[in-house]
Amino acid sequence: MKQIIFATGNEGKMKEVREILKDLQIPICSMQEAGISVDVVEDGDTFQENAIIKARTIAQYIQGQDEGTIVLADDSGLEIDYLNKEPGVYSARYMGEDTSYRIKNRNLIDRLTGVPAELRTARFVCAIAAVLPDGEVLTTRGTIEGKIGYEECGEHGFGYDPIFYLPDMSKSTAQLSPEEKNAISHRGEALRRMKEKLREKQV
Ligand code: IMP
Repeated sequence: MKQIIFATGNEGKMKEVREILKDLQIPICSMQEAGISVDVVEDGDTFQENAIIKARTIAQYIQGQDEGTIVLADDSGLEIDYLNKEPGVYSARYMGEDTSYRIKNRNLIDRLTGVPAELRTARFVCAIAAVLPDGEVLTTRGTIEGKIGYEECGEHGFGYDPIFYLPDMSKSTAQLSPEEKNAISHRGEALRRMKEKLREKQV
């Protein structure tokens, strides 16, 4: 059966993925819905490498079970230019996986003490990888540019959203509604690009 498995356990992400990919008219399920539980070691040096590692691991796991399955996976994070693109691929693990984002965000603001606005540039990056039924791998990337704020702001979103400031909108991404954020987010852009690539491949 033709289907897409998206390698995440995060329901918020699944909602966004379903919404953006719905016009492909292919059933989409999460790993949990597909009954898959695999630990993936994300030891790549780039977002793209990690997305490919995740998608390939799941594709190998289901090999032979379902001929028409496309596996999608993403990897994302925050790059702060002044900090040599930290936390980067370590965004989730920065200061330890169990450390609260209150503490992580405070720490990043502190590390930028005295750094002027023009040097506080940062971006969220999302890479998406697809493994097609014949083993071919497709990748896309999406970014959203912003600046690290001086204080946490906003209650929406997750992770680093309260310190990620969008100068054009005079708001942090935590001050956007989910719909507003999806329309401009790194993940939305990468997903829309992947949708086009899958269409070109006529999967
Ligand atoms: P993953 O791609 O789900 O592994 O996410 C990596 C980490 O990057 C998350 O745990 C967050 O720390 C950070 N991150 C990725 N996208 C966003 C975003 O849209 N807002 C805030 N933090 C994000």
